[in-house]
Amino acid sequence: MKKILVTGGLGYIGSHTVVSLIENKYEVKIVDNLSNSNIWILDRIEKITNIRPVFHNIDVNDEVNLTKIFEKNSFDGIIHFAAFKAVGESVNKPLEYYYNNISGLLSLLRVQTRFKTQNLVFSSSCTVYGEPNRLPVDESFPTQKAESPYGNTKKIGEEILKDVSHANNLNVISLRYFNPVGAHKSSLLGELPIGKPNNLMPMLTQTAAGIREKIVVFGNDYNTPDGTCLRDYIHVVDLAEAHVAAINRLIGGEIKSNYEVFNVGTGNGISVLELIQTFEKVNGLKLNYEIGNRREGDVEKIYANCDLANNELKWVAKKNIEDMVKSAWEWQKSLGNTL
Ligand code: NAD
Ligand code: WQD
Repeated sequence: MKKILVTGGLGYIGSHTVVSLIENKYEVKIVDNLSNSNIWILDRIEKITNIRPVFHNIDVNDEVNLTKIFEKNSFDGIIHFAAFKAVGESVNKPLEYYYNNISGLLSLLRVQTRFKTQNLVFSSSCTVYGEPNRLPVDESFPTQKAESPYGNTKKIGEEILKDVSHANNLNVISLRYFNPVGAHKSSLLGELPIGKPNNLMPMLTQTAAGIREKIVVFGNDYNTPDGTCLRDYIHVVDLAEAHVAAINRLIGGEIKSNYEVFNVGTGNGISVLELIQTFEKVNGLKLNYEIGNRREGDVEKIYANCDLANNELKWVAKKNIEDMVKSAWEWQKSLGNTL
């Protein structure tokens, strides 16, 4: 059995990916410091897969303890999710974000290179494209100045990986996620935002649950069909499977250069109002929403060209927008009014 280290493996995307890896017969070890997750996620992973992955409550910045894990294990690959991800918070706490996301990556790379672990998958983001001048956006588009320290950690992270992969002969795949949403079909795993959500989908589910009074749509005067922003929402289970495809490619020796980048989206641009209306229709309820001002820094429209991932990773998004809003709402209901 091939052995994969997953950092941030108890988080939203990490936990779904751990399940997909186990379902694809990988042995998984998790490193997570629980800074944005809960230990009971491990029980949920076990409930779904009948396997309890080994878990280490370690900060990826802790090179000493990270080294101990590498001394006891020979990994065939690493998937690095561990990072802070709140865009707004990163503006007020840039030091925390640069330390956690950049130092964390460097710490992992230092240990990984010492132990000659060849393969790494990195969580990047469509945020590196900024506001693209054409759509859909493909991997050859230039990256742009980041709108936030968080976005900058992804841009810098990719640059570090490009340099290190060439110099140290590592094989690295950066996956540029578009907008991950939805939850596992069991409703045992999903997104757990702390406090008031910044992202649209948890705002919808928490408003539907009565936890939030209303959704404010951030602007309806954009140059889009209904005036609201377009995004490429991708089901988290499809995204998890893209990681398995990336690991398969790395381990299978199919990579064409030391550093590869793939968009992970569906290719569909969905507006804020379309998402709200689909949520209402599929789940048979009404959402309280109003049109508000634009949010500073928002991109007007972005969606992916996923040809490269389709052809090279042999991965394709299978779930549609209906699956996304349904599973997100099922997950929210399973939580009760706990958030
Ligand atoms: P998440 O917060 O749910 O998961 C991150 C996990 O990493 C958490 O369990 C947290 O406890 C852990 N962690 C954070 N810092 C750590 C550290 N120093 N050491 C060990 N563990 C640490 O976030 P997510 O939505 O699952 O995102 C996973 C990755 O994907 C992140 O790198 C994020 O930036 C990236 N990403 C997320 C989105 C999104 O919209 N969710 C989009 C693009 C990219
Ligand atoms: C989606 C759309 C909002 C909330 C962020 C990060 C990005 C990436 C994904 C990690 C936008 C609108 C939202 C609300 C609204 N993460 N909206 N009312 O902005 O595409 O990207 O998450 O890498 O880096 O910036 O996602 O879910 O915040 O917003 O009208 O209460 O919903 O304006 O058009 P976004 P989002």
